[in-house]
Amino acid sequence: MGPFHRPVSIREAKILIRSGEPVGLPTETVYGLAASVFHQTSIKKIFEIKGRPWFDPLIVHVSDKLMAKALTSDWPPIADFLCDHFWPGPLTLVLPKRSWIGPIVTSGQDTVALRCPNHPIFQAVLKDLGPVAAPSANRFGKTSPTRWSHVYEEYGGEVPCVDGGECSLGIESTILCVDGKTLSLLRPGLISREELDSFLKNRGFCPSWEEPSEIFAPGSLKKHYQPPVPLIILLNAPQDLETSRISEIIKDLPVEKSSEVQLKPPWVKLNLPEEPFLCARYLYHELRTQSKPAGTLFLFWDQKKTEGDWLPIWDRLKKASSFVYHY
Ligand code: TXA
Ligand code: MG
Repeated sequence: MGPFHRPVSIREAKILIRSGEPVGLPTETVYGLAASVFHQTSIKKIFEIKGRPWFDPLIVHVSDKLMAKALTSDWPPIADFLCDHFWPGPLTLVLPKRSWIGPIVTSGQDTVALRCPNHPIFQAVLKDLGPVAAPSANRFGKTSPTRWSHVYEEYGGEVPCVDGGECSLGIESTILCVDGKTLSLLRPGLISREELDSFLKNRGFCPSWEEPSEIFAPGSLKKHYQPPVPLIILLNAPQDLETSRISEIIKDLPVEKSSEVQLKPPWVKLNLPEEPFLCARYLYHELRTQSKPAGTLFLFWDQKKTEGDWLPIWDRLKKASSFVYHY
């Protein structure tokens, strides 16, 4: 067990980050693991602590538009409008980077992902220390933390973390790549593509949307956000399906899929809020807590809840699951 059994204060967090130690910090989306962009060894430590592959770049957090501009080599007018309206908030913009930004942060890419978090604790750190790189504070591939206790459990007190309470939004920011007038959505979030599109059209822009190529979205792996035990999704299955029937269905799954993970009892039905924004807020917490008594989690899900406001939640659930069974 590590030494950080209690939350650290904002003051302690600043001292630790200045001295090169990554610190867990709350944002309105999820908790991040923060290091100064000026501290290369500390940035390296983030990758080591998380077990994150070097090819997966980090988001750089900024206090405002001015700080963001100092990190970019091109700032198209579209970026101005988006920041003025959506920042601080859950929108990350990917733009061409300044050459001085170390290659580890951006995994050698010539772009940088920028986000201005809407959280007083994170803002207090940014105002004092300048730009801070922070991926979600989970171990690589695992469920993101939305409370101090999640970060504590993830690393057994090895990693210091400030307690900012529950994250109000609960899932990660929307990531938008801006290439002049061409936009691509690299990660869906609570700010939807439709909202961005109509916002820009109302201001006289006519953005052209492109599907992201894998090279531009290195972190969008198929498996991600994975809870401690395997999760099976039953898409469009009748809700009254008995648990015994569920284990029969699982037996019929293609061998290579079901053998990747060990599916064992007790089978626990995952319960999530019925309203999309509440569901987003509690999603990761429920995935963690309902895993505790379970050998395997299963979730009934309706096709209708894969679009619109549900899209970013469905994106996380699909990746968190070991298998989606189409009933
Ligand atoms: O809400 C959030 O965005 C949270 C909080 C802590 O701010 N952060 C977060 O970071 O979700 P992380 O590292 O878990 O996810 C960042 C994603 C990764 O999939 C990464 O590949 C992508 O952003 N990314 C970062 N820089 C990029 C770049 N230059 N080009 C394309 N994708 C980039
Ligand atoms: Mg993450």
